[in-house]
Amino acid sequence: MTPKQVKIAVLGCGTVGSQVVRLLSERGEDYAQRCGADLDLIGVAVRSLEAPRPQGVPRELLTSDAEDLIDAADIVVELIGGIEPARTFVLRALRRGVTVVTGNKALLASCGPELFDAAQHANADLYFEAAVAGAVPVVYALRESLAGDHVTDVLGIVNGTTNYILDEMTRSGRSYEEALARAQELGYAEADPSADVDGYDAAAKCAILASLAFHTRVGIDDVDVTGMSDITAADIEQARAGGCVIKLLAHAHRVRVGEREAVSVRVAPTLVERDNPLASITGAFNAVVVDAEAAGRLMFYGQGAGGVQTASAVLSDVVAAATHVAHGGAAPREQTYESLEILPAAQARSAFEVRLILADRTGVLAEIAQVFASHDLSVAALTQTAREETGCSALTLTTHETTLGALEGALADLRELACVKRVERVLSREG
Ligand code: HSE
Repeated sequence: MTPKQVKIAVLGCGTVGSQVVRLLSERGEDYAQRCGADLDLIGVAVRSLEAPRPQGVPRELLTSDAEDLIDAADIVVELIGGIEPARTFVLRALRRGVTVVTGNKALLASCGPELFDAAQHANADLYFEAAVAGAVPVVYALRESLAGDHVTDVLGIVNGTTNYILDEMTRSGRSYEEALARAQELGYAEADPSADVDGYDAAAKCAILASLAFHTRVGIDDVDVTGMSDITAADIEQARAGGCVIKLLAHAHRVRVGEREAVSVRVAPTLVERDNPLASITGAFNAVVVDAEAAGRLMFYGQGAGGVQTASAVLSDVVAAATHVAHGGAAPREQTYESLEILPAAQARSAFEVRLILADRTGVLAEIAQVFASHDLSVAALTQTAREETGCSALTLTTHETTLGALEGALADLRELACVKRVERVLSREG
């Protein structure tokens, strides 16, 4: 019997696309066995036919006509990144009923509803394992492995660049600027690092994970984002003295508000206590901790970026998709039946650590305590850490779990006190 042929089109031939093309050629026989079909790479759409390409990318497969390529394919692998033209190409494929595999977190987190609606309408499959945490199979885990469970929390380091920078600052005492320069030398950080250091890459991933975990459409604009570029060597040292490290965490929680459930999503630099497994994630690695009612706690760890690592995730989707194209079956459909309310940032719950610089005189502690009490904020720990400047002392307070809104109310009152020189740092704290 003639083996079935599944026609694959790759859009984009950068760091990830070139590795996907290479592996499709080198591992083609394995994939054929796994899918029960030959994977036929029919073309690679690129913007420039003349640009240099890595070894392993056959020039005869390159084309600048993405639309013709899409129209001839059974599976379109979108690795262009960004919104346009990726959005137009993905929609074109889905509307024709063609399976799409994408690693494009920005596209999914910004235009997810449009893409999923198009897929649903045309009965097309949409796969996106590579969009979150590179090689780490956390999309599959939430979409399929935990389909029988009830996920309550997802907490993770989903940006390797910022984890590298914070880890470098922690290990070497370097400043943010020095650690960023090192991350750029090593190729982790872009020349313009803002998408990583301002938290938007992590926010897109947070939105995708929350959508899957809570069966609710969550977009990037729903995520409250605080970046990490103003974290100083002094903050890192202060964290260390308090038994913590600072990590940029994506927080996605199912929370109870009165009788109903809602979703809280945010990205923020967070103090992580040393015995929390996320504290030990060093370098550019990613890790995601998922809590589910029946399974309990699960942790997923690995390389969240890199061409060949991300290609591994893309090809896992290609193998699944090709098996369905050849033999029937479908990817899980978008499931947003819970449609939970997404809470405003002020209602996000956490313990917080607040560092105040105070006039060093009798009675200031009583004034501070009075403000916390008047906002019904319970203080878990309090340390007068050091004399920072003449006539001043530094006071670090850790709250019990509260809302960001309640804390901000107290901070506004604290800033009115004559004894408060400044509120130097406010960070969430994870036990
Ligand atoms: N720039 C990202 C990171 C990888 O550093 O993790 C792509 O999302």
